[in-house]
Amino acid sequence: MSQPLDSNCITLTRFVLAEQKKVPQATGELTQLLNSIQTAVKVISSAVRRAGITQLFGMVGETNVQGEEVKKLDVLANELFINMLKSSYTVGLLISEENETVIEVDLERRGKYIVAFDPLDGSSNIDCLVSIGSIFAIMKKEDNTIPSLKDALQPGNKVVAAGYALYGSATMMVLSLGNSVNGFMLDPTIGEFVLTDKNMTIPNRGKIYAINEGYTHLWDDAVKEYVQNKKDPAKGKPYNARYVGSMVADVHRTIKYGGIFIYPATSASPKGKLRLLYECIPMAHIVQTAGGLASNGKIPILDVQPQQLHERSPIFLGSKDDVQEVLDIIKKHKK
Ligand code: AHM
Ligand code: MG
Repeated sequence: MSQPLDSNCITLTRFVLAEQKKVPQATGELTQLLNSIQTAVKVISSAVRRAGITQLFGMVGETNVQGEEVKKLDVLANELFINMLKSSYTVGLLISEENETVIEVDLERRGKYIVAFDPLDGSSNIDCLVSIGSIFAIMKKEDNTIPSLKDALQPGNKVVAAGYALYGSATMMVLSLGNSVNGFMLDPTIGEFVLTDKNMTIPNRGKIYAINEGYTHLWDDAVKEYVQNKKDPAKGKPYNARYVGSMVADVHRTIKYGGIFIYPATSASPKGKLRLLYECIPMAHIVQTAGGLASNGKIPILDVQPQQLHERSPIFLGSKDDVQEVLDIIKKHKK
């Protein structure tokens, strides 16, 4: 049975506006910024849904019959994020997974925020229709100087807001403003994100572990021991294994159902795979605000001082007790 339309529904824009009103000195710039991300996400969502039909799968560099360049989905997503953010008049510097260096915003359109983003994460899943996502973290520029690389290298504890969009069986945006995490589902019939998951909190313990087990031979002994324990009936009820291979989908499931998501260091990639600024930090901000933990195995992800734009980091993220359990094993192995 279909639900009646809600004449008082809380859209993402309405929610952010109400949050803004709680801060007397707020200028509305963050609301404006988040609106521009919302627009980018809506267009990406529509493009993802129609990518097979509009030939957006893996075709960069080719031209269509009209002689126009055919864009790959991830290139399109990146352009959307950049164009929408630049024209929001709220950002001074952008960091994208797709761009080697920082993206500067021209003086006339410059604002006080800095946004780090992965416009379309989970690239290996694009062409086979498995869930993919966008991830972002918003920071403030600390002074009035011309924005530069050093402004981009801020630790996660300086992040003012972070979020992700999941292009799954439905499109969802999850937003953390540092005090709470809320989820908004895209209602395609009205083209708006509607609040569906109020005050999201992550269970203290889950029953699921998520890690790419194909790399077992490359893990250190602590990670091997932890994952082995999760499968050993002698050590408690074995966990279920789930691994999408798209961080947004794996993290979203971890927040909803509890459990742990791990992308550890391996002997082949001693810093892991995932990028600190636009993958690990935003997800750590969201998960911690929802009551979970996120660590690089030594210290909280949010305490790591980034040294480089595209720096990688190992990550252990999820339910408090599950993450603490693996951290205790890591500590034991160090002794
Ligand atoms: P990408 O930025 O190239 O899409 O890679 C990031 C993705 C994450 O979404 C996911 O958690 C991870 O790579 C999966 O990597 P692997 O295939 O090594 O397990
Ligand atoms: Mg990525």
